[in-house]
Amino acid sequence: MARMWGATVALIAAVAGAGAGVGAGAATAADPTPAAPVSAGGKAAVARQAHFEDQAAGFKAIGDELKKETPDKAAIQAGADKINATAQDLPSWFPRGSGPEAGVKTAAKAEVWTDAAGFADAAQRLQDETAKLQQVAMAGDLDAIRAGVRATGAACAGCHAKYREPDKH
Ligand code: HEC
Repeated sequence: MARMWGATVALIAAVAGAGAGVGAGAATAADPTPAAPVSAGGKAAVARQAHFEDQAAGFKAIGDELKKETPDKAAIQAGADKINATAQDLPSWFPRGSGPEAGVKTAAKAEVWTDAAGFADAAQRLQDETAKLQQVAMAGDLDAIRAGVRATGAACAGCHAKYREPDKH
């Protein structure tokens, strides 16, 4: 059992921490380059990255609780609510024109749009898993929560493997 928990925590760290810092360095005050006007697609990409950070924070919050001797079930529920709500919104974060052509830093691959059906399936898979995770979080059974976290993390990673640039982690 302890090994399984360790694997869960490692998975959360891998997925939740994957994008840490990616958005942070995009533009600094010291940057001497005059800012070009950011397109609507570019703004959508920046907003999307913030949404993912928020989602990852919910995921990490659950992982942090699961590491504790007595996990705080209310904190787990709050994290699960956040992950599920953001998962439902996720498809709307990818308007056309917010991909690599948008002129801003983005790790979204062109395949998000050229393989829209596959991307929709990957988003649906996440929504299915986060809905289940939210249910087990409400019920409060820690083993079921751990299983739900693993399934959710696999849904995150499954989409990243196909639709996110690996070198921009
Ligand atoms: C349906 C596809 C898909 C799913 C599911 C998905 N992601 Fe992502 N994620 C992406 C794409 C595409 C990007 C790149 C966004 C960009 O750079 O514009 C990304 C980027 C991120 C980032 C980096 C954000 C930044 O600051 O640049 C984090 C963190 C992240 N995802 C966490 C998660 C977590 C946690 C989950 C699961 C709870 C998840 N993602 C599920 C597609 C997905």
